[in-house]
Amino acid sequence: MTSFMPPAQKNWWAVPVGRQELVWIAIALVWCLIMFFMMPFWHMYGDQNISNEGYRVTPVKYQAKVNEMIEKYKVREVGAMKIPVVAPPDGGDVYLMARLWQWYPMLELKKDVTYRLHLTSIDWNHGFSLQPVNINLQVVPGYEFVLNITPNKAGEYTIVCNEYCGIMHHTMLGKIWVKE
Ligand code: CUA
Repeated sequence: MTSFMPPAQKNWWAVPVGRQELVWIAIALVWCLIMFFMMPFWHMYGDQNISNEGYRVTPVKYQAKVNEMIEKYKVREVGAMKIPVVAPPDGGDVYLMARLWQWYPMLELKKDVTYRLHLTSIDWNHGFSLQPVNINLQVVPGYEFVLNITPNKAGEYTIVCNEYCGIMHHTMLGKIWVKE
């Protein structure tokens, strides 16, 4: 029988549901509940998705803030592209911008100091994946996300774009250095 055919029994709603079907419904329901409660659980205990504030922003306004920060706190430049490295003051606002195909600028932060990290994209959707600690965030144009971050381990961290954003997506890498 297919769903295109009329039911064999006229009172089809009164036919008892098969045992196998009931088992599947029960399994699906339990799994739905597990997935549902994993969302708040993982948010509290998972470290992967940090709580954020969100504001509307335009690319022009955001770029101005990024440039102002670079002008004030640039410590050096890296690579052939001469990407600035910024060491913002303790507890300060840090503006990081995603664009095709770059994280701009690069950052030098201090261990155990809390910063306000601002994040947006000035073109389209990018993904902020911080390696090797596996922090994952969506970077959405038009919205400025603000996160309170406290690096707890010194070292070199790489920002990988994990949201496909075009032909050079795989080259979209950024750096954060955390110093003791
Ligand atoms: Cu940006 Cu992929």
